[in-house]
Amino acid sequence: MPLNPNYTSKTPDANGLYRYSSDENAVWGELFERQIDYLRTRACRAYLDGVEKLKLTGDRVPQVKDLDARLAALTGAGVKGVDAIIPQDAFSTLLASRKFPVATFIRTRQDMEYLEEPDIFHEVFGHAPMLTNEAFCQFMERFGALALTLESAQIKHLFRLFWFTVEFGMIREDGKLKAFGAGIMSSPSEAAFAGSGKAQMLDFDLMTVLRTPYRIDIVQPVYFVIDSFEQLVACLDQDIAAAITQAKALGDRPALFEQAA
Ligand SMILES: [Fe+2]
Repeated sequence: MPLNPNYTSKTPDANGLYRYSSDENAVWGELFERQIDYLRTRACRAYLDGVEKLKLTGDRVPQVKDLDARLAALTGAGVKGVDAIIPQDAFSTLLASRKFPVATFIRTRQDMEYLEEPDIFHEVFGHAPMLTNEAFCQFMERFGALALTLESAQIKHLFRLFWFTVEFGMIREDGKLKAFGAGIMSSPSEAAFAGSGKAQMLDFDLMTVLRTPYRIDIVQPVYFVIDSFEQLVACLDQDIAAAITQAKALGDRPALFEQAA
């Protein structure tokens, strides 16, 4: 079940299909139209290409099964429907097999701007297009495999790397800053802030990322910018466990936000 009591998980039917009401399909459509127009000039090429390749439209909530088949043909990646947030080891096991876990409920009109908990708009509109990019898939797969080898005391720092890339990453393309993180794609308020010029944009650096705390319930005050997805993959060539030990010894960078109560 989702943690938010306003939502309940969906269960697929015998054919693996999830049912959405006309209102839920309309919410998908409104979010899709609003975000896709906005992102045409703000999202990276790999993401926009991915939207085309997956044939995402605002007509209705896509079916996990259809996306999984398209991704399998494109990059050997896939998506798997899950109840909601799943345990870290189950999450990492899926990533290590190029499968992205997808919560299948969709937000209501009260939560159009941002929902802390991932819904299917975040999962599919935000994450799935990037799974059509081979280098991004390599990063995801290796990240998942690495997470399964680390000790639990190291996981929090490792997931900072996930947060500042897969969820809120930016990339430089033709001298311009473009988004690739799913949290930016799926949140109108996050996308507006990331593109406002007010957010702090730092060049991606593994040690800085590992030492940067974040909160999940606010628009991000800082984003990290990569130059290519190959750079992201290459950062995993380092001894990440040793880097986390070093990051912990150096301590966190000062938070750019108030601590949550
Ligand atoms: Fe996400």
